[in-house]
Amino acid sequence: MTSVINVNLPEQSYEIVIPSVLDATQTVSYAKAPSSLDQLGQHMDSLKLGKKVLLVSNPTIFKHFGERAIASLTSAGFEVASCTLPPGERYKTLNSIQKLYDIALENRLERSSTMVALGGGVIGDMTGFAAATWLRGINVVQVPTTLLAMVDSAIGGKTGVNHPHGKNLIGAFHQPRLVLIDPNVLKTLPMREFRAGMAEVIKYGVIWDAELFAKLEASKRLDQLRYVKSDLIHTILTRSCQAKADVVSKDEKEGGLRAILNYGHTIGHAVESLTGYRLVNHGEAVAIGMVAAGQIAVELGLWQKEDTERQNALVQKTGLPTQLPTGVDIEAIIEALQLDKKVQAGKVRFVLPTEIGVATVTDEVPSDIIRQVLRGM
Ligand code: NAD
Ligand code: GLY
Repeated sequence: MTSVINVNLPEQSYEIVIPSVLDATQTVSYAKAPSSLDQLGQHMDSLKLGKKVLLVSNPTIFKHFGERAIASLTSAGFEVASCTLPPGERYKTLNSIQKLYDIALENRLERSSTMVALGGGVIGDMTGFAAATWLRGINVVQVPTTLLAMVDSAIGGKTGVNHPHGKNLIGAFHQPRLVLIDPNVLKTLPMREFRAGMAEVIKYGVIWDAELFAKLEASKRLDQLRYVKSDLIHTILTRSCQAKADVVSKDEKEGGLRAILNYGHTIGHAVESLTGYRLVNHGEAVAIGMVAAGQIAVELGLWQKEDTERQNALVQKTGLPTQLPTGVDIEAIIEALQLDKKVQAGKVRFVLPTEIGVATVTDEVPSDIIRQVLRGM
């Protein structure tokens, strides 16, 4: 069965399409489950988009799935150009965007054309930003290939690149026309990347969806895709996407509520940038940030100690880090927090849980509490 989740927005709503990993009525094996990637062209055709498409990926992802995506688009009548950008967070730069503009120009992309992001959050954020700015905005379709991108970055329209002094400092809101999830592509995803995506899934459990949290707790293992039952994968995808869709539909441009999606990201971003975006990946940094934020909430009397312990047990069960990487200086973290996009009037904003499934946003966290919590990690 395919789940369709609507992101309802005033200007243009769109669908997140999530087929189950394996339809319960089918007897075919997981490896042979029908793949929605092969229906990309059909899905896009139904949106009545212009015929020119630029498919953007990276060499690894393109090698796995590029030809299938192109075949599907071509058979639906699209005229497809494709390009790859080098992999990794360090290439999430304006330089890469310039390359996309050059290719868009070469291929004469028009206002009605579409950029398709086939990749993880790095490709998704860059393709979205290029689409937001080329000809003042053309269509973008997100085909996420990491768990993190499926449950988070492909949805909600935040696009952008890093500045040498800070992550995602340059960007635009640009909503996709469609998010097409193919759970089968997760089979080639490295274990570390699967775990990184699980950090965002745990995030939704803590801030929004207590039932999802309980389902994760009930699973014996969460550290590798192959140990997670296919119905739980479907639950993880649908409930996480629903959580993100709910929040974005209520607050598209982060005027208020959407800020709760930054749970774990305040300290997480600082750790990511202080380790040069190499030592820890985004999901690992978010895991560390959630452990820190959970403890801050306890210190401030907002959250029960037992609930932090339940959160941290989930993080651990997923194989994600719960401690600061060695060598990261606590004062450097405090300083880096000031550069965060979430700083307002010099005050650092934290998202803090108050019960499992509910969170609040505050800028009243004394630096001494942050220091004390970080020293304990
Ligand atoms: P990523 O895009 O760097 O992908 C991780 C690695 O997995 C890459 O090496 C990639 O080549 C590889 N890969 C991707 N899919 C694969 C597959 N199916 N099989 C094999 N290998 C595959 O990392 P990510 O975790 O997806 O994204 C992180 C980025 O997302 C960060 O830049 C972060 O800032 C951004 N992000 C954005 C938002 C948003 O709302 N826009 C939200 C969260 C994170
Ligand atoms: N990942 C945070 C947001 O989309 O708002």
